[in-house]
Amino acid sequence: MLTSQLFQSDRVLQAIADDRDRMSRTRHFRGESVTKLQTALLSWDPGALPRFGADGVYGNETARTVRRFKIEELSVPPGQVIDDVGPRTVIRLDEIQAAAEAPPPPPAPSVFVRRDVWTLQADAPWDPITIAYARAVRTMQARPMSDPTSWSFQAALHATFVRPANPVWNGCQHASWFFLPWHRMYLFFFEKIVRAAVIADGGPADFALPYWNYDQAAPRNTLPLPFREATLPDGSSNPLVLPPGGRQPGIAAGAQLRAEDTSSTQAMATVTFTGPAGTAFGGGRSAPAHFDGASGILELQPHNVIHTVIGGPRPGTATGCAIGQMTDPRCAALDPIFWLHHANIDRLWNRWLDLGGGRANPADNAWLSQRFDFFDETGTAVTMSVADVLDSATQLQYVYDDRPTFVAPPPRVVPVAPAAELVAATERAVDVSRRVKVPLVVPDSTRGLFERLARGVSNVFLAIEEIEAERNPGVVFDILLNELDDDGDPRRHRVGSFTLFGIELMNDPDHVHDGAPGLRHTFDVAELIAGLAALNLWNPDSVTVTIEPVPPPAPPGEEPPAIEDLDLPPVRIGRISLFVGEPGEIPGELVS
Ligand code: C2O
Repeated sequence: MLTSQLFQSDRVLQAIADDRDRMSRTRHFRGESVTKLQTALLSWDPGALPRFGADGVYGNETARTVRRFKIEELSVPPGQVIDDVGPRTVIRLDEIQAAAEAPPPPPAPSVFVRRDVWTLQADAPWDPITIAYARAVRTMQARPMSDPTSWSFQAALHATFVRPANPVWNGCQHASWFFLPWHRMYLFFFEKIVRAAVIADGGPADFALPYWNYDQAAPRNTLPLPFREATLPDGSSNPLVLPPGGRQPGIAAGAQLRAEDTSSTQAMATVTFTGPAGTAFGGGRSAPAHFDGASGILELQPHNVIHTVIGGPRPGTATGCAIGQMTDPRCAALDPIFWLHHANIDRLWNRWLDLGGGRANPADNAWLSQRFDFFDETGTAVTMSVADVLDSATQLQYVYDDRPTFVAPPPRVVPVAPAAELVAATERAVDVSRRVKVPLVVPDSTRGLFERLARGVSNVFLAIEEIEAERNPGVVFDILLNELDDDGDPRRHRVGSFTLFGIELMNDPDHVHDGAPGLRHTFDVAELIAGLAALNLWNPDSVTVTIEPVPPPAPPGEEPPAIEDLDLPPVRIGRISLFVGEPGEIPGELVS
């Protein structure tokens, strides 16, 4: 069947296509079919019929052009060309004509819109954007690791086991004020690579990465459907799904995330971008670094928590990425959900700035002028500075589909105390692979200060220090202060939670770090203490901290496993301390 509108119902051309007829200087040499043939030749080459154009007569000029068409377009050897029109000529001209008739592809928009993946899906598992993403993932996965636009090279830019390492690999910025801008650049160039693959595949030219906003009610707090379907709509296997073990099984089967784990409320309440651990949105001032400094609150929660909950446990002597990809920074970007998680974190940075109330990016030159290296969609090395990525709409041509919907929480101001003072601390290290409740000792020397905390002091912090484990158990640890065994409402004791995201890099002997062993997390507990004091639960002789590993979510309809059955590796906490003052410098020893 001829498909172009021009050729479609022409009986002569159809008969030639079916090899039942011919057109030449002596047969069907005049008339409408000839005009159509000549028009298609002009679609092929606008200069093809310079003297007579599409005049409806098959003369010498048309015969010469048909010869040239057969040689150039059909690769017929010049010695074998006859100047009449047969089936191959008509069928190929029909294709060329159909392409010329198709409307031109819409021009790329000037601003790309990153959309909520659950809104794209509405009620069907697939939509054009997620199909395009899946197909592009497959294309990138087929490229060799030596190609900077390949899936494996892009993941290695974050971190990788692969040795020898290209010097540009292992660049991810964590526990640092570079966390947000580095990941923004990383996504920006990755998105360009994906978009180029999408367009080459005939997909939507306005492709932008979708994001997963898990901080919403079910089903939006479950893994998006395209990451759970066995096949694409065309029946081919789905590269957005990992083999069993790649993700925590409950999550892979559609279990809901806990609201405690998806919430960004604490991060949004901060008003400063940079500052000591436990106080600031975006992380502590640092040189470019990989996990050593102070994490921003957004990085800890939901960022780290979501990584760990999705990945689940890492195996003991893991040097590969088969199990628990999202849990380990060296594997995380291999999981296609990584990019939707980070688009959400990047969106939250924009939303935080929208809240106002003094929220602003650092104006510090050490931050603004820092440059990082990436690769564009042609595989060319590119570099960008933090100052280049502060406004996604005007500098990087993308926006998110949501309106600012957060109601600004009251700003939390952390005044600077002259020197940090330790108020209470544990006496020995504890293993938290089971739930433990440990006493904090309040020596006589700090009892006065301890009492004052109850009356409202704004800069009080709980630090979980020297967190060490030989592997990441892939669970979230909840922290409770002065929790009572018979208290029906654990929420009024909740400090927050932490994970061991990044522990592998602290354990890596090749990894340069500042000397303090293990990971450390700091939490603002001023309000919590005021609340406990109001309930008469603030007493120097009974200060306790409970650390509780949370069983990972079970597949829908199944019971979560008991934590005892999970066989978690020992997770050691060197000290838990309560202190007042600048959280940057945790004071050394309790003086009694
Ligand atoms: Cu650099 Cu979410 O990781």
